[in-house]
Amino acid sequence: TYVIAQPCVDVKDRSCIDECPVDCIYEGRRALYIHPDECVDCGACEPVCPVEAIFFEADLPAHWQDYRQSAVHFFEAAGGQGGAASSGPHDHDSPFVAGLEPQGS
Ligand code: F3S
Ligand code: F3S
Repeated sequence: TYVIAQPCVDVKDRSCIDECPVDCIYEGRRALYIHPDECVDCGACEPVCPVEAIFFEADLPAHWQDYRQSAVHFFEAAGGQGGAASSGPHDHDSPFVAGLEPQGS
């Protein structure tokens, strides 16, 4: 799966949503989350993010490893399945993202 990491938090550019062929990028309050079971690893989202928040899981920088489990936890609470367009945006974040200090300037 691909994973959205810290640069997305409080930015939410949303360019990635338009690229995903399977509609597996879901919007939370402060960040977006890729559904790990729905992502087909096409890679289309990664280059369009202007803040370079998206990584293939094996390429996640060490200091952002928490974002993989963060997405799992987001979907445990969201139950977000069957496509982001019909299920979101969601009014919550993973506990990890919700607990971050405000990001950006
Ligand atoms: Fe976030 Fe980048 Fe998508 S900022 S919403 S991961 S385009
Ligand atoms: Fe997954 Fe991104 Fe493609 S979320 S399905 S790699 S557009």
